[in-house]
Amino acid sequence: DGEEISSDEQQVLEMGTSADFPPFESFNEDGEFVGFDIDLAHEIAEELGYELEISDMNFDGLIGALQSNRVDMVLAGMSATEERQENVDFSPAYHHSGEMFITQEDSDITSIEDIEGKTV
Ligand code: ARG
Repeated sequence: DGEEISSDEQQVLEMGTSADFPPFESFNEDGEFVGFDIDLAHEIAEELGYELEISDMNFDGLIGALQSNRVDMVLAGMSATEERQENVDFSPAYHHSGEMFITQEDSDITSIEDIEGKTV
């Protein structure tokens, strides 16, 4: 925001999240933020030489918090939906999730075609 930072004062990087989504972000039993996004945010802050501060909020309020400059970035396991992409900039994806069908452990079914004639 253009404010001058004195050399002994570390700049703060404010992260918004909704810590109800393990293993990406949650609270441990000591009430500390933990999870993949928390680790990633610490890496980013360290790389930039910033001090990381984390604000926990409602997931639905995260984009608004970013748009109104209450946070600098959001890491919240948030998927880049088309609607969201119209309002904020997403980084390259750092996680892909895939839903899969499963079969019994020792079955010889390795593709959908294999299921034919083997249904219960
Ligand atoms: N990936 C889903 C989405 O973007 C769920 C994310 C939920 N994240 C959270 N911190 N509660 O809508």
